[in-house]
Amino acid sequence: MEGFAGKVVVVTGAGSGIGQALAIELGRRGAKVAISDVDTDGLAVTEEKLKAIGAPVKADRLDVTEREAFLLYADAVKAHFGKVNQIYNNAGIAFTGDVEISQFKDIERVMDVDFWGVVNGTKAFLPHLIESGDGHVVNVSSLFGIFAMPGQSAYNAAKFAVRGFTESLRQEMLAKNHPVAVTCVHPGGIKTAIARNATAAEGLDAKEIAQVFDKKLANTTPERAAKIILEAVRKKKARVLVGPDAKVLDVVVRLTGSGYQRLFQGVVSRVLPT
Ligand SMILES: NC(=O)c1ccc[n+]([C@@H]2O[C@H](COP(=O)([O-])OP(=O)(O)OC[C@H]3O[C@@H](n4cnc5c(N)ncnc54)[C@H](O)[C@@H]3O)[C@@H](O)[C@H]2O)c1
Repeated sequence: MEGFAGKVVVVTGAGSGIGQALAIELGRRGAKVAISDVDTDGLAVTEEKLKAIGAPVKADRLDVTEREAFLLYADAVKAHFGKVNQIYNNAGIAFTGDVEISQFKDIERVMDVDFWGVVNGTKAFLPHLIESGDGHVVNVSSLFGIFAMPGQSAYNAAKFAVRGFTESLRQEMLAKNHPVAVTCVHPGGIKTAIARNATAAEGLDAKEIAQVFDKKLANTTPERAAKIILEAVRKKKARVLVGPDAKVLDVVVRLTGSGYQRLFQGVVSRVLPT
């Protein structure tokens, strides 16, 4: 079924949002699914849905920042299913705060989960993906890995880093003739719990920011996002923009170069609470 049947796929952050939708859609298309999250309640919901579909599933609590655990997990997935074809490095968190008022620990936490989590997952699984003869690394960056926004320096840094890491990896796999495709995913606003789970610098109202995101910025459902991502994976695309906002803003950045920064800061200060 569209190239996913019988594949062993790994999805991090599968207890909610895009990760949950990806895991379920992959299960529907005949994949064997290894799901993980720090949120074990959310993960149990995904596991139940996969079992209801009849998809073979392995569910584990995994914190993507814990490198040693990730390495052991990769071996455990291989041992369980006998091979690994695809990893979706999807787990992520959001944080809002200008550089001036953000603590070092807040910025480090975002880099740990959103960037190092992707590096840990990629490196832990890469040997297995190469060995499979038919591997795929799918790393979730963001529209914020294409343009920067005030208040998002930590998230922007992590997501730009994911993009650079992923685009380099794709070329390495091609240059070495390794049988591993690589796709970088750039979602626009997706209707998930990300903003409600997010933190903010002291003095900012994280709840109010989440409400603005939910009401004004999140327009694509996670189910639709999963379908768009899997279509790009099937076609082994280098990059996938998810949602009309991602497509439009990508063009704006291409057309304006660094000029978008002057445009955006004015718009953002009108949309977001200060
Ligand atoms: N929702 C959006 O608008 C949007 C836009 C662009 C990019 N993204 C990216 O998409 C990915 C998925 O986000 P989502 O919108 O589905 O959010 P979500 O909050 O609904 O889901 C994220 C999941 O990641 C898990 N997670 C967080 N920290 C973790 C850790 N250390 N280890 C393991 N799991 C962890 C959470 O428990 C949660 O289940 C993230 O990388 C996010 O940055 C989302």
